Amino acid sequence: MVAKMTMWVCFGLVMLMGSGSVSSSKFDELFQPGWAMDHFVYEGDTLKMKLDNFSGAGFSSKNKYMFGKVTVDIKLVEGDSAGTVTAFYMSSDGPKHHEFDFEFLGNTTGEPYVVQTNVYVNGVGNREQRLNLWFDPSTDFHSYSILWNQRQVVFLVDETPIRVHSNLEHKGLPYPKDQAMGVYSSIWNADDWATQGGRVKTDWSHAPFIASYTNFKIDGCECQATVNAANLLQQCSSNAEKKFWWDEPRLAELSVHQSHELLWVRANHMIYDYCTDATRFPVTPVECQHHHHQH
Ligand SMILES: *[C@@H]1O[C@H](CO)[C@@H](O)[C@H](O)[C@H]1NC(C)=O
Repeated sequence: MVAKMTMWVCFGLVMLMGSGSVSSSKFDELFQPGWAMDHFVYEGDTLKMKLDNFSGAGFSSKNKYMFGKVTVDIKLVEGDSAGTVTAFYMSSDGPKHHEFDFEFLGNTTGEPYVVQTNVYVNGVGNREQRLNLWFDPSTDFHSYSILWNQRQVVFLVDETPIRVHSNLEHKGLPYPKDQAMGVYSSIWNADDWATQGGRVKTDWSHAPFIASYTNFKIDGCECQATVNAANLLQQCSSNAEKKFWWDEPRLAELSVHQSHELLWVRANHMIYDYCTDATRFPVTPVECQHHHHQH
């Protein structure tokens, strides 16, 4: 057997203050339904995905990306969303995959949604953080973004950073910059764990549960897989000939203003942080020891 290796060819618009390289407000240009096409409803530029007792639904990006920023505006399930989970995430493939997750855990009517984020590096996650938002995410569209470059992965809600995963390779920690990632979203039933620890079950008499999406944006280094090996990182990094906006020095860390916003979020809205869970991690994970030192 000849081992098949994947060769990636990547493209990114070369610019310093880039806008809109592969950006689009329209679903079809960037994404495709992944499963349960009969659970998709299109209303103009809005896509609705339904969960009922037959199926959930999911979509995925047509291409894979190295670095950049992805944003989708989402309006989560209104009213009783207990037991449901809606996820928006980036992921590469395979057992050593990387993944950056937003998971929105539903609740009974009037009780707050929880946003859980997680980061997988080389197939290992266990980096959950949970927060309540400063608004009800089921009444209006709000933007959810992932910014990814060689220095940091930033999770943003309406452009406010809620989490940063910094590159700590100099401390010996692996950082995701060797695999192209797709962009995904799905809605499914997770009433075995999602709401109040699994105590509240999905009430199917309230189905279908609907998550709505609009304003799809991906501004990154787009990669197409062909056959044989190549250097992804090199193709998607700035050098003397090409400059990618995500390599701008000002994006190597949060701005002072953003750092203050993150502190505010953590102080007022965080309800769980794996970094401070001594039961799970008797020894504080190395990346957590640096958390609060950003200026
Ligand atoms: C649901 O509401 C309860 C009560 O306010 C809260 O403790 C919980 O964190 C909320 N979210 C989930 C996903 O259970």
